[in-house]
Amino acid sequence: MTTASAEAVTARHHREIGGPRGLPFLGVAMQLLDDPFTLIEKATIEYGGIVRLRIPGQRAFLLSDPDLVKFAFVETERAITKPPPLIHRVDLALGKGLVTSTGDLWRRNRRIVNPVFTRERLAALEPLIHQTAQATIDRWRDLTVLDVREEMGRALLELVIHGLFSASAEVLEQFDAVARSLLTLFKFVARQFVSAIPYDLYLPTPLRVRSEIRRRHIDRVIGEMVARRRESGEDHDDILGLLMSATDPETGASLTLPEIADEVRTMFLAGYETTASALVFAFHMLSRHPLVRRRLEAELDEVLGGRLPGIEDLPNLPYTLQVFHETMRLYPPAWLIGREPVEDVELGGYLIPKGSLLFVSPWATHRSPRNWDAPLSFDPDRFAPEKRGTYHRFAYIPFGGGSRKCVGTNLAMLEGPLLLAALAQHYRLDAIPGEQLVIRGGLTLDIESGTRVSVTPRRPQIEGPTAA
Ligand code: HEM
Repeated sequence: MTTASAEAVTARHHREIGGPRGLPFLGVAMQLLDDPFTLIEKATIEYGGIVRLRIPGQRAFLLSDPDLVKFAFVETERAITKPPPLIHRVDLALGKGLVTSTGDLWRRNRRIVNPVFTRERLAALEPLIHQTAQATIDRWRDLTVLDVREEMGRALLELVIHGLFSASAEVLEQFDAVARSLLTLFKFVARQFVSAIPYDLYLPTPLRVRSEIRRRHIDRVIGEMVARRRESGEDHDDILGLLMSATDPETGASLTLPEIADEVRTMFLAGYETTASALVFAFHMLSRHPLVRRRLEAELDEVLGGRLPGIEDLPNLPYTLQVFHETMRLYPPAWLIGREPVEDVELGGYLIPKGSLLFVSPWATHRSPRNWDAPLSFDPDRFAPEKRGTYHRFAYIPFGGGSRKCVGTNLAMLEGPLLLAALAQHYRLDAIPGEQLVIRGGLTLDIESGTRVSVTPRRPQIEGPTAA
């Protein structure tokens, strides 16, 4: 048995772990579907860092204690794995890419993909981020109202498509169609992840039929691009190029076309909605916290003076980074992360049998008063450089941790703050009276409505897109 305690203790039975009772037979299953956020937040406050979640047919536990979270992450790919039933639901749309694979297949693919996301390599994306920021700034110039979710989605999709395919002309021509296909796939994956009975997996529902058509469409685009690149013999320094040229150090084998397509689809899904949602919430929080917004604007004006921010500016924009981190603390895009022990483990003094479902929840962890003072207040100063070390490393886990930590962390921490800085410098976004942000639990935080905002140019005296 693997244990999270430094000292051996006599582990208690998992049934002794406290948790909300919910309804007879159904337990908390309906609440988990309807309003998971309130459920897990309240349960964490009431029952502590490990909570028993009564779900029919499941032995499920919610973790928010940083030491237990650390254990779950660090043991992943050893005593703990990604839960096969949940992964199976996502497989249908994504195939066996990095997010859904485990064991040797995952290890090989992670070795191949890791080098794509080093800071040095990502620096090459700066012009692309500038281009996207500038296009967004220009597009907003004539608007008084916009949908910030749509706008961030568009910007991030552009970035991820360019980053994967080097702004290839063929993909740009097909951009709208590829984007539509991806959105159908996202919807499919999100529905599988949260539905009590994943009937789309077994029945030819309209959504399933549509997503299969869309998946084939994306695979055709990827297949044609791979074929064209192979024929041209050109070397591209993008993710597709890396995947195509990668070989397994142990066997020397290259990735097959279906394997490449699985990874590309995975990158689309994992890399687009997450960063877009962090930005939507950042603007949402700024509109509700005028003092924070003014301080952010003062920093942007002082450091950038109207020009677009670059990578070398980031060390001089500490408050911008703090705002981005504090947003992800309150609204972690990946709000729930699933794990399953492959052997009995001891967690927090309890024996957790293999095959249980462990929910590591960034949402609950980030909002627990045991981990943070006044956890519900929006206070970017928590992440001030001098505060480093005052909170447990695993009390802040927007990108997960351990061997399966987000491979795109560096990219997200580049494009997110740079877009925030570029846009917040030129515009103020404010909630429209009556618009209420409604979120649902999908694979990532799913913002359902309430994202229409009014847009006000901040520096009307600035003429032209980049003039200071
Ligand atoms: C704010 C933005 C992002 C957040 C909050 C986020 C969050 C996460 C989290 C929490 C995990 C770990 C899931 C687990 O342990 O089961 C993860 C994994 C992953 N992320 Fe991200 N992510 C973001 C952006 C990105 C970007 C930009 C990319 C790539 C383009 C990306 C690609 C991936 C991949 C491929 C994995 C699977 C890694 C593995 O299992 O080896 N993510 N992400």
